[in-house]
Amino acid sequence: MGFVAAKIEPTAKEEIVNGLTQALAETAIETLKAQNFHWNVTGMSFGALHELFQEIYEDHFEAQDLLAERIKAFDAHAEGRYSLYLERSAVPEHDGRTDAKTMVEVLMKDQETLSSTLSALAQVAEQHGDWATNDMATGRIEKHDKFAWMLRAHLKTTAA
Ligand SMILES: [Fe+2]
Repeated sequence: MGFVAAKIEPTAKEEIVNGLTQALAETAIETLKAQNFHWNVTGMSFGALHELFQEIYEDHFEAQDLLAERIKAFDAHAEGRYSLYLERSAVPEHDGRTDAKTMVEVLMKDQETLSSTLSALAQVAEQHGDWATNDMATGRIEKHDKFAWMLRAHLKTTAA
């Protein structure tokens, strides 16, 4: 029989739902962080960074919904508490009281963390033949890698 999310065996379900929940937690923390930086960024690059940070939090806000609704396909509980997100997330909070360059460095590191979390999820999903989660995770990796590149480009003074 092919893969049916709602009928998956319990151990595989737990592994996939755990991975999705960690991705959701990190995406949620990063959404708020990018929006906080969008509000508080200062300096000569204000315009560009204000817009880039908005692009990030808008993308991540939509991604939270995708990840949470994939959890629901497994008939599992989609977590919606920041307290739990903070426990699960390898992406930490930030108070937003820092200079523009540090903001870019912080978000770049977070985007790499997110790529790594989603790559672990893609692998777990593949092991269980869950192609939908695998595809979703792979799509998210592409986005996070792109944002990491855009952030990295702001820190460079010379061509690669
Ligand atoms: Fe705004």
